[in-house]
Amino acid sequence: MPAVPMQDILSDAFEKRYGVGAFNIVNDLTMDAVLGAAAETGSPVIVQVSLKTVKQMGARLIALMFAEMARRIPVPAALHLDHCPDRKVIEDCVEAGWSSVLFDASTLSFEENLVQTKEVVALAHRYGVAVEGELEAIKGVEDGVGSEHGGAVVALDKAVQFIRETGIDCFAPAIGTAHGVYKGEPKINFERVSEIVAAEPIPLVIHGGTGLSDEVFHELIRRGAVKTNISTQLKITLADSFRTYLNGRPAEYDPLKLLNAVKKDVQAMAAGFMRVFGSEGRAA
Ligand code: 13P
Repeated sequence: MPAVPMQDILSDAFEKRYGVGAFNIVNDLTMDAVLGAAAETGSPVIVQVSLKTVKQMGARLIALMFAEMARRIPVPAALHLDHCPDRKVIEDCVEAGWSSVLFDASTLSFEENLVQTKEVVALAHRYGVAVEGELEAIKGVEDGVGSEHGGAVVALDKAVQFIRETGIDCFAPAIGTAHGVYKGEPKINFERVSEIVAAEPIPLVIHGGTGLSDEVFHELIRRGAVKTNISTQLKITLADSFRTYLNGRPAEYDPLKLLNAVKKDVQAMAAGFMRVFGSEGRAA
């Protein structure tokens, strides 16, 4: 079906409290695999792209590829730009017909972030594009964006002011999760999710999904963090799949067999997460 606005996907998930996987794809194969997993499980899905990949492939090519691949499957799908501090790339994606963007101004002061996020929302909403807002830097580097140290956590009233005044469609708070592979057990601030949602009912976003337990996902989703981001696990599955396939077949040179085998593994990984998130069978 044609791409569905991300607001529609997230508002249904928020109302019914199930998670929607947002997977950072890196090329056509991984986009196809993630959409294939959504079709296989009857899940709504968010195809998410890092700034680095957008710079490599171009916003328009990704948008065209997504439009055609999404049209071929019978479930709702949206195309989202992940952490992007670069206003020019945001504009390119908005104009190229993406569904949503994450304007990452978390390195700016609260006041400057507020002003700039408002401007991004005004532009994006003119095109029917959703905006994810971020106030506190999420710990860990995501495809070249971010730092090993998370930003300071702002007071609840400031976070609520940011959500209300900017008009963002979903919000990514710092809740103790981190991008990349966890070195120890993450200490998750579940209460913060509940406090924000109680003060302002808006879908929240779980960054750093790789390595969280099913129980942590279920609890965060139940409290309103329904956009669930997965990047690192896709990279691991992709690389391991290539390695295993090629190591096991040192004399085979059939690219389509190789790519189809890898796609199958990535699709199985994404489908597994969709089942954990509870999005299976939710596609309207
Ligand atoms: P992981 O890399 O930990 O899966 O996090 C993904 C993410 O939050 C993308 O923004």
